[in-house]
Amino acid sequence: MCGIVGYIGKSQAAPILLDGLSKLEYRGYDSAGMAVYDGTEIKIEKATGRLKVLSELTHDGETMPGTIGIGHTRWATHGEPSDSNAHPHFNTDRTIAVVHNGIIENYLKLRTTLTEKGYQFCSDTDTEVVAHYLDYYYKKYKDPLTAIVKVIHRVEGAYALGIIFADHPDHVYAARNDSPLIVGKGTDGNLIASDVPAVLKYTRDVYFIENGEIAVLTGENIDFYNVDGDPVEKESRHIDWDESAAEKGGYEHFMLKEMYEQPKTVRDTLAPRVKDGQVEIEELGMTEEEIKAVERVHIVACGSAYHTGVTGKYVIEGMARIPVEVDLASEFRYRDPLLNEHDLVIVISQSGETMDSLAALREAKKRGIMTLGIVNVVGSSIAREADKVMYTWAGPEIAVATTKAYSAQLIALYLLAMKFAEVRGTVTKEEIDGMIRDLKRLPAQIELLLNNKERIQKFANRYVAAREIFFIGRGIDYAIAMEGSLKLKEISYIHSEAYAAGELKHGTISLIEDGTLVAAIATQDGLFKKTLSNMVEVKTRGAFVLAVTNEGNTEIEKAADYVIYIPQTNPYFADSLAIVPLQLFAYYVSVGKGCDVDKPRNLAKSVTVE
Ligand code: AGP
Repeated sequence: MCGIVGYIGKSQAAPILLDGLSKLEYRGYDSAGMAVYDGTEIKIEKATGRLKVLSELTHDGETMPGTIGIGHTRWATHGEPSDSNAHPHFNTDRTIAVVHNGIIENYLKLRTTLTEKGYQFCSDTDTEVVAHYLDYYYKKYKDPLTAIVKVIHRVEGAYALGIIFADHPDHVYAARNDSPLIVGKGTDGNLIASDVPAVLKYTRDVYFIENGEIAVLTGENIDFYNVDGDPVEKESRHIDWDESAAEKGGYEHFMLKEMYEQPKTVRDTLAPRVKDGQVEIEELGMTEEEIKAVERVHIVACGSAYHTGVTGKYVIEGMARIPVEVDLASEFRYRDPLLNEHDLVIVISQSGETMDSLAALREAKKRGIMTLGIVNVVGSSIAREADKVMYTWAGPEIAVATTKAYSAQLIALYLLAMKFAEVRGTVTKEEIDGMIRDLKRLPAQIELLLNNKERIQKFANRYVAAREIFFIGRGIDYAIAMEGSLKLKEISYIHSEAYAAGELKHGTISLIEDGTLVAAIATQDGLFKKTLSNMVEVKTRGAFVLAVTNEGNTEIEKAADYVIYIPQTNPYFADSLAIVPLQLFAYYVSVGKGCDVDKPRNLAKSVTVE
């Protein structure tokens, strides 16, 4: 989604804005722009396409003098990607510039009212109403803060705003509702940004702006106000990540780097929760009685996080014998779900800002149901609003296609299932001990699989021209198939479907032609024979079968044309291993096709609109 950066201080603003925007490229965008006050007036430069175009246009920012400015990367929602729709947007007098992330839901109504007042629009965006309404209220009240307060009372929907006024060239203003926005307290100036990586070069002390809050920055000070314009006190937070966490560090792509960070991510998510041979999830804050009282779990998430939820269902139901429902967040909130007093709603999200997941969380809270967020981004909306939060310690994930955050989410779910199972007496102490041993082996086993990348690269190169690829599996293997398929389609643009292996013959098998690649995941011993039959079914119809199965399972070679073996582990944890070759496969197909691996077309890292 859109990215916002703002700077005020002693240095030239434009190069800092460009640098910050480059750290937000992962969010997805199709145009970019900057507004800088040059000592006399506000100048705006915009460009459709990559940030590189804006950098070239402004000679890396050099042609835009001035030490106060706002910048934006736009992911088009209202109006096509174009220079006129790109942000920042001006009022008619070009004295107020605005950047915006989110959607102003009542913009049509506001646009009509403003048109009646004589305002003229030069873009198709919802954002331009903010610029003109600011103009209207600023002319009326002669005070920027009052104008902002008035405007945020008029607009409905989600917004993070960065604003500068030519009449007040020593201030940057920011406001938020539902779209993320942070303030960085630097040494030679202060910043606003949509996410922490954009400010890490200048500071690690940040403030998270809450819904309805306004921030007013000068080069030296930062003041906060509530929705009524009354001052509020806020504490800054020190962020542990260093700048290198958000850099490629010698890897060709962030996605490859992040795949290689998976062993560490697994270790970091596991270590603080396994103490003296016991699973301890302190942040859960649930007594044994409360855990025993849980009657049903609802897991709600989007995309890959939803896929970990599907694995979570098998693991929690299997280990702890609690019924689990898994929902896509966009469906959950509108289906009037049946929620009972003793239910637990788990919302899984890397960004912690996905609008559908956030809305689902709010729906559950509104109904008084206990909520748990499994979240990666510290201080994000879901992390702050959930009753309890379990962080996945994956660090910043930049590639749009998630890998390490996915792996960390799986670990969090395994631990939760183990804790619930232990308290509810559905597993023995010996079984838990064995599971802990297996969990601790995962990082080294993932490393082993990553080291096999050349073989997968060679195999992937054969499929860069594929028209479609199928993924099949049963039980947990079906969840893995879904994630393998999503990884492939999002970064290689090859059509792919994931099917529950037993369901294939009820329709989809008609799509199998001579040479169609079918990736069959078969890690679950109890289901192995059944999946093997489904592999034979597709092979008989001409498919080329790639199998991912457990070491030693050579029987698979009867039905597979190409086999990738994963090390032995507890069947509940197989997703953590089987997903690695599928991530590598998707990655190398994408590289082979020359796609933009880290920033695939049409996608955004953090989806803050419905
Ligand atoms: C994964 O590769 C995707 N980019 C996407 O499906 C993602 O998992 C989904 O949008 C949910 O995001 P979240 O985890 O930040 O909520």
